[in-house]
Amino acid sequence: MDTIRESVRAKYAETAIKLRDGGSCCDSSCCGGSDAISGPIGEEEYSKAEVADLGLSLGASLGCGNPTALAQLHAGEIVLDLGSGPGLDVLLSARRVSPGGHAYGVDMTDEMLSLANENKARAGVENATFLKGTIEAIPLADAAVDVVISNCVINLAADKTAVLKEAFRVLKPGGRFAVSDMVEVEPLPAQVKSAIDAWAGCVAGTIPVDEYRAAVVEAGFDAVEIEITNTYGPGEAGLPPGSGKIASAFIRAAKP
Ligand SMILES: C[S@@+](CC[C@H](N)C(=O)[O-])C[C@H]1O[C@@H](n2cnc3c(N)ncnc32)[C@H](O)[C@@H]1O
Repeated sequence: MDTIRESVRAKYAETAIKLRDGGSCCDSSCCGGSDAISGPIGEEEYSKAEVADLGLSLGASLGCGNPTALAQLHAGEIVLDLGSGPGLDVLLSARRVSPGGHAYGVDMTDEMLSLANENKARAGVENATFLKGTIEAIPLADAAVDVVISNCVINLAADKTAVLKEAFRVLKPGGRFAVSDMVEVEPLPAQVKSAIDAWAGCVAGTIPVDEYRAAVVEAGFDAVEIEITNTYGPGEAGLPPGSGKIASAFIRAAKP
């Protein structure tokens, strides 16, 4: 598990440096890369005006959907983004929960945290905080947040059960879980599953939809809904010929 986490961290450190130097995530394979999952994240996922209002561009997302569109956010709420990367979803959430609310992002990669803090300063957002930590051991107290969001990150974790239990722990009773992620819809061959590069590119760490649903339920959530958005087969999204299929999905659930 430590080897996987370290290779993911190294890969996203490199991606953060590229983005900071004016490159786009599409220069390297990542969840939002051109050779990877979603193609460039587009206007159908995010409002261009809302992103531009933060002084950012859609290149500031490495995700596979827009979790901020999944959860209705209200003024005064506390939001947490698991694996916040360059920080776009945290900054959009911070705007939506203002006044009185706060948005936290947690990420393990120093270079991503620096980039996120630069983006926060550029956007002039004050009610957002980027925390260093892992999503398997979230650095927040029990029942601290109203909404947990995440964009194309949980598939990267070797221990998804630990992540989902942590998300449940930090949510208040009645809190909402609304994430975009990648799932496996047709089995991938063993050599794809074991390739570290494919893991960091949001492919090898995917688990079947039923297994994902069971892990969310096992963590304690109810009202679990999984909606497949885009499906990718052999030759797409970095999948080799003859492989199975993966898909981006929206996953919603609630803490009773
Ligand atoms: C594919 S990027 C997504 C970033 C962001 N959610 C977005 O949509 O732009 C994955 C991010 O998750 C972070 N990450 C991956 N695994 C993590 C873990 N186990 N704990 C904390 N952060 C993690 C990486 O450092 C990286 O910034």
